[in-house]
Amino acid sequence: LEARFTADIAAAADLKALDDIRVAALGKKGEVSLKMRALGGMSPEERQVMGPALNGLRDRLGAALDARKSALEDAALNAALASERVDVSLPARREPAGSLHPVSQVMEELAAIFADMGFAVAEGPDVEDDFHNFTALNFPAGHPARDMHDTFFMTPDEGGIAKLLRTHTSPVQIRTLMGSKPPVRIIAPGRVYRCDWDQTHTPMFHQVEGLVIDRETHMGHLKGCLIDFLSAFFETDEVEARLRPHHFPFTEPSAEMDVRYERVGDAVKVGSGDKWMEILGCGMVHPNVIRACGLDPEEYQGFAFGMGVDRLAMLKYGMPDLRPFFEPDARWLAHYGFSP
Ligand code: PHE
Repeated sequence: LEARFTADIAAAADLKALDDIRVAALGKKGEVSLKMRALGGMSPEERQVMGPALNGLRDRLGAALDARKSALEDAALNAALASERVDVSLPARREPAGSLHPVSQVMEELAAIFADMGFAVAEGPDVEDDFHNFTALNFPAGHPARDMHDTFFMTPDEGGIAKLLRTHTSPVQIRTLMGSKPPVRIIAPGRVYRCDWDQTHTPMFHQVEGLVIDRETHMGHLKGCLIDFLSAFFETDEVEARLRPHHFPFTEPSAEMDVRYERVGDAVKVGSGDKWMEILGCGMVHPNVIRACGLDPEEYQGFAFGMGVDRLAMLKYGMPDLRPFFEPDARWLAHYGFSP
């Protein structure tokens, strides 16, 4: 009996097998326990021999079980340590680095190009009032651009005055001119809002306004400034642009500038093709605007422009649709090289 159990204990492969052996030997109905229970039915002489022999057997098996148990536990612990060891020398997994949104990137490029041309950066609020967004910019009362159709108006306050989301960055012209004495040479980058939605229009988009006011500024300066800007922005002299007569209440004469482009597959390319994309409005600042800002139009004149940043980003990065600019789709960004 002892030899059999001792061999079993030595062969037990895991703690479960070892426990089964303990139950089979020393458990309530184990073979050793049953024999000890049988002592009661023996003669005193037999009991004197068998009693100490069984006690000894029980103790030796118990000790063998304990020893095997701690050996198995040690082995299990060593195996776990080996398999779960952390290799601190492994290189860390890289997190995606992210990148600037194309619009932010173009905004920064525009500010840098115009900084080189001597323009400071000015700012104004997104929530504007009628005076700065329209009246001071020489919009006649009842002009269609004031209409609910284009402009997001806020709920009127107690006095019946409705603020609005600025429909262009031109109100920053007013805010800048009212507070300073010419010469003025600023750009004003920012968000603008119009109730519009299709492939080249989104209800929120970005403009960079430009304003130059001095004593002898003329249309030639405006054109030269814009052409210089385009070749710096597209990093080539091959860009073809045209000034097309237009109307804005706050400039006279007024023009829009278009850039020649074409579609190539699902991309757009600048400098060739037979399509024109309108990228900005511009003109000589209207005397009424200069007057509204407390300056004498006989003494000061200048030019202004307002360019569509998102349109410029479309052309520069070959993106044919404006809408995904404002849908956070990382695959779209990655497609145009904007993801890690
Ligand atoms: N504010 C005009 C627009 O949003 C653009 C513009 C700016 C035109 C400055 C002329 C001068 O369409």
